[in-house]
Amino acid sequence: MDMSENWLNGLYDHIQVLDDREDGELSETERLKQIRRPLLSWYRENARMLPWRENREPYRIWISEIMLQQTRVEAVKPYFFRLLEELPDIRSLAEVPEEKLLKLWEGLGYYSRARNLQKCARELVENYGGQMPDDFEEILKLPGIGRYTAGAIASIAFSIPVPAVDGNVLRVVSRVLGDRSDITKPVFKRKTETLLKETMDQEHPGEYNQALIEVGALVCVPNGEPKCPVCPLASLCRTRRDGLWKEIPYKPPKKQRKREERTVVIFERGGQIALKKRPPSGLLASLYELPNAEGHLEEKDVLEAFQFGEKDVLSVRALPKARHIFSHVEWEMSGYRIELGPDARGDGNLIFTDKKGLEETYPLPNAFSAYKKLIMCNNGKGRKR
Ligand code: ADE
Ligand code: SF4
Repeated sequence: MDMSENWLNGLYDHIQVLDDREDGELSETERLKQIRRPLLSWYRENARMLPWRENREPYRIWISEIMLQQTRVEAVKPYFFRLLEELPDIRSLAEVPEEKLLKLWEGLGYYSRARNLQKCARELVENYGGQMPDDFEEILKLPGIGRYTAGAIASIAFSIPVPAVDGNVLRVVSRVLGDRSDITKPVFKRKTETLLKETMDQEHPGEYNQALIEVGALVCVPNGEPKCPVCPLASLCRTRRDGLWKEIPYKPPKKQRKREERTVVIFERGGQIALKKRPPSGLLASLYELPNAEGHLEEKDVLEAFQFGEKDVLSVRALPKARHIFSHVEWEMSGYRIELGPDARGDGNLIFTDKKGLEETYPLPNAFSAYKKLIMCNNGKGRKR
């Protein structure tokens, strides 16, 4: 073997060694251990005062974490106050009529959360003496509680050192590590949970978990450019170093939502409005709705759909179009306001109520809020025919 080749081999070995150790960089575990201190001290200075941070009562933590799923902090606040006032403990939640609970939830969306909340409260009353158990695995068994929520309750309410990995945490961790994996895949969530369980602050798990969430909400934001210059993790962050915030976290393109045309009807009879109860399963289960039908229908088809005759109708007026976006479908709604004579009955499935009932009794999902507003301010009243 000649000299130069030897020398080259030596160089190559050296490069390989550096390569294997990622340029002498920290391991993922080491990197995450190092964020602990700056993260916690940043949180202690910068945490928002939020109503569910006033104390660590498990019931409050549980309710807030369920409400905060898929929902912004500002939107949650008034619902949180109102629910706690009406249903101050697990027992009252277990006992409240479902319809009243859904009314308290009206407008928050993802209503199965509310139904599961009650199912869980009943389970707690039946089998846990009306108390949230202080054990991660037990909490995880409860209805409607997944790994994130169980982790949040266990860590925040009971100081149990388990991670609580939600979308915020996945974003922050994937960015700090410079990990280009698909963060929507369960394996990435599991990997993150394993890494955090090993590296998180064992003495202050509740603060630690909320600190990661808080950085994700306030600094390493989900939409637009992260605020790296004020981030407590900046010096440890590979995504900041490599200028890759547009690439990380990686999410595959979403499937398009299905579009559905619907016709929504405000039937008015003697100052009352018609509602219908939705079936107990599927989209918006057990909630109420303004009568509606598939497609953009003509006036006569609307009347036929609800079995009203020409003689039942005093006036008809077309209403503005509205759109509502659910997670998987989108409704493109057209509407009519139809004034009915006092004897009109239709198909027998309609419930007539006054505005007070609409306000206080029947839970009507946001999808109808454009038309509900028209009812409430009495706009678009039918012209006589
Ligand atoms: N999002 C989910 N959990 C949260 C919490 N405890 N505080 C603020 N935002 C949150
Ligand atoms: Fe996110 Fe920037 Fe902080 Fe990295 S430095 S965690 S990219 S805000």
